[in-house]
Amino acid sequence: MARLGLLVAFAVFLEVVSGASLGVVNTEGGMVQGENIRLGFRRHMDVFRGVPFADIPGRFEKPKRHPGWDGILKATEFRKRCLQLKFYMTHTRGSEDCLYLNIWVPHGSTVSTDLPVMVWIYGGGFLTGSSMGSKIVTTYLYSGQEIADRGNVIVVTLGYRVGTLGFLSTGDSSLPGNYGLWDQQAAIAWVHRNIRSFGGDPDNVTIFGESAGAASVSFQTLTPHNKGLFKRAISQSGVALCPWAINKNPRKFAEEVALKVNCPTDENMAACLKIADPVKLTLAGPISLSSSPDSPIVENLLLSPVIDGDFLPDAPHNLFHNAADIDYIAGINDMDGHLFTSLDVPSINLPLVGTSVDVVKRLLASYTKDKGQAGSDIAFSTYNSTWGSNPSRETIKRTVVEIGTDYIFLVPTQAALYLHAANATTGRTYSYSFSQPSYLGGIGRPYPKWMGADHADDLQYVFGLPFSMHLSYLPRYRDVSGYLIAYWTNFARTGDPNKGELSVPVTWPEFTITGQKFLDINSKTNNDSVGQKMREPYVHFWTSVLPSLPKPSKNE
Ligand SMILES: *[C@@H]1O[C@H](CO)[C@@H](O)[C@H](O)[C@H]1NC(C)=O
Ligand SMILES: *[C@@H]1O[C@H](CO)[C@@H](O)[C@H](O)[C@H]1NC(C)=O
Ligand SMILES: *[C@@H]1O[C@H](CO)[C@@H](O)[C@H](O)[C@H]1NC(C)=O
Ligand SMILES: *[C@@H]1O[C@H](CO)[C@@H](O)[C@H](O)[C@H]1NC(C)=O
Repeated sequence: MARLGLLVAFAVFLEVVSGASLGVVNTEGGMVQGENIRLGFRRHMDVFRGVPFADIPGRFEKPKRHPGWDGILKATEFRKRCLQLKFYMTHTRGSEDCLYLNIWVPHGSTVSTDLPVMVWIYGGGFLTGSSMGSKIVTTYLYSGQEIADRGNVIVVTLGYRVGTLGFLSTGDSSLPGNYGLWDQQAAIAWVHRNIRSFGGDPDNVTIFGESAGAASVSFQTLTPHNKGLFKRAISQSGVALCPWAINKNPRKFAEEVALKVNCPTDENMAACLKIADPVKLTLAGPISLSSSPDSPIVENLLLSPVIDGDFLPDAPHNLFHNAADIDYIAGINDMDGHLFTSLDVPSINLPLVGTSVDVVKRLLASYTKDKGQAGSDIAFSTYNSTWGSNPSRETIKRTVVEIGTDYIFLVPTQAALYLHAANATTGRTYSYSFSQPSYLGGIGRPYPKWMGADHADDLQYVFGLPFSMHLSYLPRYRDVSGYLIAYWTNFARTGDPNKGELSVPVTWPEFTITGQKFLDINSKTNNDSVGQKMREPYVHFWTSVLPSLPKPSKNE
């Protein structure tokens, strides 16, 4: 008995000391060393935190290659996030020295080679966000550990400039904008050049992101600057066609920022902005939170990418030929618009207060204002078509959320899926709706009992928090998390979410321009979860009926 115990102890000892690890890794900039952690019997992971993928960026300039370093760079601590506003927008945090990425590499009994690679791009309205956690809190939202371990893939999370420093643009060559997109592109290119040394397959790279990160993913597939650098992409709640993804008149906001930092708005504006204090510049670019049905919050997102003639040579809808060989998953949360419409129309969350029909009309009038009264009338008759003669309080509130979800996310996503599928040569296309009800919904909770999945609700499941924070989640949340990780990592491995190392609850059919099938993903996903032509009458209204209306004459 004692001998057996000794043997077991010896075996465990061997397993611990001989755990598979990359050790010191040689990159183009120099050597890096991460941390090796043991995850279980014959399961280890190398974690690299804060690996530089570019030099400290010049202000309002494209990122440049890192000059390199001597000796071994210890990549065991997260770096600072990119300089950005704090929650109340009166203070900042972070640094301009922020172009770093983190890498999670899983190993079995031997060191991994040729693993698929998934590169994460965070959201935050192009204004905030970070992939840098804290070392003390080992579980943080964007830890790549669960995806890497369960899916047997390498996960990379990158940093990119946000806010004024990432996206301010004068609309001409003096300050062209899109610096944050160039940062993402530099990180993707670094991964392509270096990931083989980390056990990754540079020909099997998938980029994925959520919200502004999802729109960024879409932009990275549409730009001509990424040829051959990645094979697949996943957009969770955001595409380049979203109404908030492009600022068509960036000059106006640049002038407002200039005035706030005491710069002129004439031909000296750009030169002055370039030498302005970075903290002041960041503070000069807050998002206005004042919103109403007549001035919806989504219109306040002004620090967005621009059509600069370089990263984006043309409007996004004219660039889908660049994504012809990219495998693409895009989808939405079924109540993505809730977060936004509840700022415009707070009464939708108040159980004792009704929401008037007038509010529905005003919100629609704002979203369709380019087409005047005719646009908003047809919009209203589209959305009230299922109301009957006496719509309930709940019906009206749900309609507000549906309008927001359709306009801000769902319809542009369907349009992008369509263009992607129509232009695809080898690239596949998959569409989903994520509908796990928000746990903030229900009697006695902040949101109504009819809540579905709000904006950003998918993140915790994609990153496997129900596994890493086991006690905080009921088993059904581990189910939905497992499904998402299976579909996502299978897709990264094979280009087909159904084929790979993990089994899935149901076969997810491809989206084709004729079939337009999609998968509804939640903890109950089964054979009945495949749908077709998502919200078709509404997609038809926004993509065909509304655009074909004439512009109203000036005096209307
Ligand atoms: C990606 O990985 C899969 C599975 O390991 C492999 O079959 C394939 O050849 C790799 N490369 C590409 C470009 O898909
Ligand atoms: C391909 O995409 C372009 C825009 O990039 C679009 O105009 C065109 O209609 C698409 N092709 C097809 C066959 O739909
Ligand atoms: C629906 O909208 C149309 C067009 O504005 C209007 O004529 C009709 O009365 C509305 N129906 C309901 C139930 O509100
Ligand atoms: C559900 O799909 C699986 C294969 O994905 C099949 O084996 C099973 O028979 C189906 N069940 C029903 C009820 O259709």
